[in-house]
Amino acid sequence: MTNYKEIGLVNTRAMFAKAVDGGYAIPAFNFNNMEQLQAIIMAAVETKSPVILQVSKGARNYANQTLLRYMAEGAVEYAKELGCKHPEIVLHLDHGDSFELCKNCIETGFSSVMIDGSALPYDENVALTRKVVEFAHQYDVTVEGELGVLAGVEDEVSAAESHYTKPEEVIDFVTKTGVDSLAISIGTSHGAYKFTPEQCTVDPKTGRLLPPPLAFDVLKAIEEKLPGFPIVLHGSSSVPQEDVDIINANGGALKQAVGIPEEQLRQASKSAVCKINIDSDSRLAMTAAIRKTLAEKPAEFDPRKYLGPARDRMKDLYKHKITDVLGSDGKLLQL
Ligand code: G3H
Ligand code: 13P
Ligand code: ZN
Repeated sequence: MTNYKEIGLVNTRAMFAKAVDGGYAIPAFNFNNMEQLQAIIMAAVETKSPVILQVSKGARNYANQTLLRYMAEGAVEYAKELGCKHPEIVLHLDHGDSFELCKNCIETGFSSVMIDGSALPYDENVALTRKVVEFAHQYDVTVEGELGVLAGVEDEVSAAESHYTKPEEVIDFVTKTGVDSLAISIGTSHGAYKFTPEQCTVDPKTGRLLPPPLAFDVLKAIEEKLPGFPIVLHGSSSVPQEDVDIINANGGALKQAVGIPEEQLRQASKSAVCKINIDSDSRLAMTAAIRKTLAEKPAEFDPRKYLGPARDRMKDLYKHKITDVLGSDGKLLQL
């Protein structure tokens, strides 16, 4: 058993309390490789932001859970080496789908877990989430639950249709399960194709697709039921058009990719939403930089020469999200 506190990680409790009070959100970035992790840590240190490192099922399959957990331990030391005296880094299991997986992560150093029972019947979601919370809280590990279903075309996290969270269920769910935060569905979804063209309108100036707004009325109703309770938004990539254009101009074929406009994420960050999950935007930034470098320098074959620019582009993206969208810059408990 390795408790996360032994390796310098923190859980989400204090940072969420401060974020809800302060009207900003903590970034939760997925990581699968060293370049992403370096970019996340450099961005968090340079902006003095707390940060959540997320490990998905796809990441565990690709990079190995044990290796990722040791990389997170290394990230704490790396942040200190970069000059951050008191880093606030959470290692979080993203979309945990069983009690056994959550238990295993808790026993091997994760400081936070998500148990995603959102596809289960309500009572089964409550029972599974309650079981994970009872185990996790013995070790002071925080737990995120989910109510409502996000639509999406991710490899591992998919549902054909979304169902908004029902505000009338949230008090019962939070009370019965004891969760520390609640992921909700208000119109976001996973991946780079969040809306079909039929769901969008066309911007007459640019000809680009404009997505429908998030259901802020549902968010408001949830906040009224659970004042001050930490709310989580998954599927919150904005799918920057610039990255999509670079990818397509350099041999890619991303058609009509649409994300959540940053203005809406800014608005959500000021509410009880205190954790915002971003993965696809990092994938796009990395792919854009790699495609561009290889197109411009076809003779290049040293991976550092194209992964380096990819890392730089992801770092810029993470800093932009922290500073210009979520507002978590300068919000470490001890600067
Ligand atoms: O929530 C979904 C994340 O974007 C992770 O997806 O399992 O393909 O890594 P993944
Ligand atoms: P995006 O696909 O919008 O980046 O969402 C990521 C996510 O919710 C991870 O849990
Ligand atoms: Zn998610």
